[in-house]
Amino acid sequence: EEPQTFYDAVGGEETFVRLVRRFYQGVAEDPVLRPLYPEEDLGPAEERLRLFLMQYWGGPRTYSERRGHPRLRMRHFPFRVGTRERDHWLTHMRAAVDELELPEALDRQLWEYLVYAAHSMVNAPDEA
Ligand code: HEM
Repeated sequence: EEPQTFYDAVGGEETFVRLVRRFYQGVAEDPVLRPLYPEEDLGPAEERLRLFLMQYWGGPRTYSERRGHPRLRMRHFPFRVGTRERDHWLTHMRAAVDELELPEALDRQLWEYLVYAAHSMVNAPDEA
């Protein structure tokens, strides 16, 4: 038998749907983050993040079939990501993770990755 993936352990696609939907509800209302998103409709961005996270955690590889290699740092260069943007991003993501009510070890594993990834995405200095 294949070892269970993190994707399966947290409840599969349904869990990632909930996570990313809740996250984007926060982004939609956020005056720092909302202006960064070029499209009026956040739906396609929500789908890209959901598919990426599903793939990262061992689920279907639909993200790369559609978008190719993630190269996430490069894909964020067009957007100004300072520590302020990062912290707003993490605030909405923390609220979204909380709503999943995962077992503590899974919550911690997911959260540590998200914090690490968000820190690595910063590409602009703090404004004076
Ligand atoms: C795309 C902002 C961190 C994953 C985007 C986009 C923006 C953005 C404005 C373009 C929306 C779109 O059209 O898809 C930010 C900000 C961050 C952040 C302000 C703060 C640190 C992260 C992190 C991850 C991530 C930590 C992964 C764990 C993605 C993915 C896409 C994306 C997968 C779509 C890439 C593509 O296929 O084109 N982000 N992001 N982002 N972001 Fe972030």
